Amino acid sequence: MKTDVRSLMRANIQKLTPYASARSEFTGKADIFLDANENSFASVGTDTDYTRYPDPLQKAIKQKLAQIEQLSPEQIFLGNGSDEGIDLLLRIFCEPGKDKVLTMPPTYGMYKVSADINDLEVVSVPLKADFSIDVPNVLKAIEAFSPKVLFICSPNNPTGNLQNREDVLALLKAFKGIVAIDEAYIDFCAEHSFLSELPHFNNLVIFRTFSKAWGLAALRLGIAYASPEIISAFNGVKPPYNINAHTQIIAAQALEDIGKKTKLVQEILDAKKDLLAALSSHPAVEEVFRSDTNFIFFKMKDATKVYQKLLNEGIIIRNQTKVYPEGLRITVGTPAENEAFIKAL
Ligand SMILES: Cc1ncc(COP(=O)(O)O)c(C=O)c1O
Repeated sequence: MKTDVRSLMRANIQKLTPYASARSEFTGKADIFLDANENSFASVGTDTDYTRYPDPLQKAIKQKLAQIEQLSPEQIFLGNGSDEGIDLLLRIFCEPGKDKVLTMPPTYGMYKVSADINDLEVVSVPLKADFSIDVPNVLKAIEAFSPKVLFICSPNNPTGNLQNREDVLALLKAFKGIVAIDEAYIDFCAEHSFLSELPHFNNLVIFRTFSKAWGLAALRLGIAYASPEIISAFNGVKPPYNINAHTQIIAAQALEDIGKKTKLVQEILDAKKDLLAALSSHPAVEEVFRSDTNFIFFKMKDATKVYQKLLNEGIIIRNQTKVYPEGLRITVGTPAENEAFIKAL
C-alpha cells in the first residue's frame, strides 16, 4: 500500500533545509581535515584519538545492516537509542498541540512521555485481557480521533507477548497514518519480525535496538527501518553527529560477530526456562504470563511489598502495579542472578 508520507509530515519539516555539517559536505578521500574546528593535536582523558567528529550518517554500520537484512542503507536510520528514533518520529509527523498518537497500554512508557514532551494528545486503546490488540476498538479510535502515529510494541513491554500477525496486518492495511512497530525484543523470537512487510508499506517504521540481545545498552544505539522518504526526514531532523565514534566502532564489530549474539540469546532463553519454572511453582505467584522476550511479567500477591523487600536485599525488579494490578516484571539475569532472586523471593 502506498501512502503519501510526505504529506503526513509537519509543514515546517517538509520545508526544512537540514544543517549541512562539515563532515557531511565532504565526499572522497583526504588526509588532512581542517574543516570542522576540532583539536588536531590530541584527546584529553584517553590515549585513543577522539579528536575528529564521527561519520554523521554512520555508513559502515548501515552498510553491514543493509547486507544482513537485505535492505538498502537508505532504509536505515541510527539513533542514540531507539528512544531518539521515537522522539524524532513524533517531531517529524506530529504538530505540537494539534496531532494525536495512539498507544495500547500497558506498553512501553516512552511513547506517552515522548508524546507529552511534544505536546501531543495520546489516544489509549488498552490491550485485551490476554494482552493482544483490541483491533475493533483501535479501528474505532482511528475513525474517531484520526491519530497521526500508531505505536505497536511486539513483543510488548512490559507484558512480554508477541502480537498476533493478523491483528498487526489488519491495522497496517487499514491505517493511513504512520505505523511504528517497536521490535526491541525481536531477537528473542526473530522469526516474528515485520521487517519483511517494509516493501509493502511505505508508512511503516520498525524500531530495533542494540540494547537488549546485543548487550550494548550502555553505548546507546537504536535502529529505525523505513521507506527512504521517511529515513531522509529522520536524517534531516536528527542532530548532526548523533552516534559517537566509539559506538560506531563497537557496533560495526558486533555486526561481524552475529554468532555471539545468537549464542547469548540461546543462553538467555535457557535461563528464562528455569526462571519461568521457579516462578510458576512459587505459592504466592498468582500468574506467570507468556514471554517472547528476555523478561517475565507476573502477578504476585502483595506485589509492592515483595518489590520493596527484594529491593532491601539489593535485588531490583520492576514494580508494574501502576500499570497492572499486582504486576511485576523481571529481566532474565545470569543463572546466578536468577537463583539469588528466587532464593530471596
Ligand atoms: C519496547 C522498548 N522500546 C525501546 C526501548 C528503548 O531502547 P533503547 O535503549 O534503544 O533506547 C525499550 C527499553 O527498555 C523498550 O522496552
